[in-house]
Amino acid sequence: MRTAVEFDQFYAKPDPWKLSHASFRDRVFRRLLRETVRGRYILELGCGEGHLTAAVFGDAKSVTAVDISSVAIDRAKARGLPNATFKISDFLETSFKGFDVIAALECIYYLSPEEQDAFFAKIAREHAGKVFVMSAPIIGENKFRRYFTHSELMAVFSRHGMTVERFHNLNVSRTGFPTTAATAAARIAPIVLDWLPEATIYQRLYKVLTR
Ligand SMILES: C[S@@+](CC[C@H](N)C(=O)[O-])C[C@H]1O[C@@H](n2cnc3c(N)ncnc32)[C@H](O)[C@@H]1O
Repeated sequence: MRTAVEFDQFYAKPDPWKLSHASFRDRVFRRLLRETVRGRYILELGCGEGHLTAAVFGDAKSVTAVDISSVAIDRAKARGLPNATFKISDFLETSFKGFDVIAALECIYYLSPEEQDAFFAKIAREHAGKVFVMSAPIIGENKFRRYFTHSELMAVFSRHGMTVERFHNLNVSRTGFPTTAATAAARIAPIVLDWLPEATIYQRLYKVLTR
């Protein structure tokens, strides 16, 4: 999926990624982003139906939240969130200027490799000296698409003059007994996630400083 038409079709039924059932994910994001978000001006990229806008960015001073899908944005607007403004926009065409924090949670990998490079260059250019947070799978590749690995992402950040302040594990890959046990432990105490080896991790969150 890349175009507005494709994402609108995917959003034909509400909540296509079943995010309303992802309460553990919400809890982990809230814990990790609380201090970064509180009282700040946020640009949330790929906001979809505004699930994280409500669940994670509620303490922000204001959130400008954009998505390529008009269907998703209509549902996001219907939430009536007092601190949020929702806009239909492709994030490669969105201005990145004037925000304290830009958040790209689980959306960059829909861009082609060339577009991803243009995206990071745009962040470096239009959001200099600020905070950028992004989350994505770090598994390299699966049957659906090619994702980053951790070392590839570190190289991308470095190439664009960005410094990683910290990163955190968000969840584990779903195969095998050790990861099932790790998932169970992490649900009781999410801090356990950061003790797990990289090979067991599915997604990571990065807090990055631009120069
Ligand atoms: C997997 S969903 C994640 C939604 C939300 N960030 C979350 O994690 O709950 C990815 C979202 O990115 C949006 N998206 C993908 N490519 C985009 C683009 N180029 N510009 C704006 N939004 C885009 C999709 O429409 C979709 O709503």
